[in-house]
Amino acid sequence: MAIILGIESSCDESAAALIGSDRSILAHRLAGQEDAHRPYGGVVPEIAARAHVQVLTPLIEAALNDAGLTLDDVDAVAATAGPGLIGGVMVGLVTAKALAMAAGKPLIAVNHLEGHALSPRLADSSLEFPYLLLLVSGGHCQILRVDGVGQYRRLATTIDDAAGEAFDKTAKILGLGYPGGPRVEALAKTGDARAVPLPRPLLGSAEPHFSFAGLKSAVLRAAQSGNYRPEDIAASFQAAVVDCLIDRLEKAIAQGGPASHLVVAGGVAANGAIRSALEALAARHDMGFVAPPLWLCTDNAAMIGWAGAERFALGLTDPLDIAARPRWPL
Ligand code: KG4
Ligand code: ZN
Repeated sequence: MAIILGIESSCDESAAALIGSDRSILAHRLAGQEDAHRPYGGVVPEIAARAHVQVLTPLIEAALNDAGLTLDDVDAVAATAGPGLIGGVMVGLVTAKALAMAAGKPLIAVNHLEGHALSPRLADSSLEFPYLLLLVSGGHCQILRVDGVGQYRRLATTIDDAAGEAFDKTAKILGLGYPGGPRVEALAKTGDARAVPLPRPLLGSAEPHFSFAGLKSAVLRAAQSGNYRPEDIAASFQAAVVDCLIDRLEKAIAQGGPASHLVVAGGVAANGAIRSALEALAARHDMGFVAPPLWLCTDNAAMIGWAGAERFALGLTDPLDIAARPRWPL
């Protein structure tokens, strides 16, 4: 069994994990930075990068301790090399390079999106390629056909905001604070999803792309009108997002070719209403449905370690001078 050290630092979570190629999660540690960013209502890149510098090395040491391992026991060091906030990505990648060089281990530069895309295979050993993936996070909203490691065909993307961004902005409009997604979901539970008429951008259009900017503006207008209860706005907003995701996935299923499984990954996949709508969609199309456990949906280092393990098994390692990339489409 190969053991991979995974490192994640592309946004506001610093994380380290030790993952076995047999899918064993030997250790995973995570330090969020919510308190540091809360006063600003969103992630401040410079604060994030400084926080990664402070906590990443102790996190890696703690993960090794948890697993009862030393760096010598590790077969490769995998770190997110992009896309993401470049200062933070550089902190994690440089740390990984230093460890790889010091211990004489190979480096694996992981695309953060590939980490999300392959994470369902860490959670479910029976999930085979190809599968249809809805990747929904704060920065991304894509439908991908995953044919193998490194083989991704993008069927849809967002033409403006990502779904998670729409949740975060709705939370800000409703004064729920940061991070927004879980708070909007919690408030939506007590609201009426039919109370506020909100648009479903691009619904029914031929291309399976997403758009959420217009929905966000409509939420703002509804909130400013003073005519609606916040819980009804939250519930109506969430229902609009669900409708858009399902309609666009229907298109992608029709256009993307056969896939036995529908898979969801990324932070927004933590949303219960979205998960159950996706499960029903998969059942209607006779597809299996895989959603990783919640902790594996939001940013973490286990998915980076696992993507590293998948790449390591194929002999895909990277040179020590590889650069961090703020943008890096799959
Ligand atoms: O994957 P992730 O941790 O970071 C990125 O790579 O973006 O995703 C974070 C996003 C945030 O926009 C957050 O509001 C959203 O996922 N999110 C949720 C929920 N939990 C997290 N959105 C809706 N409902 C949730 N329960
Ligand atoms: Zn992410």
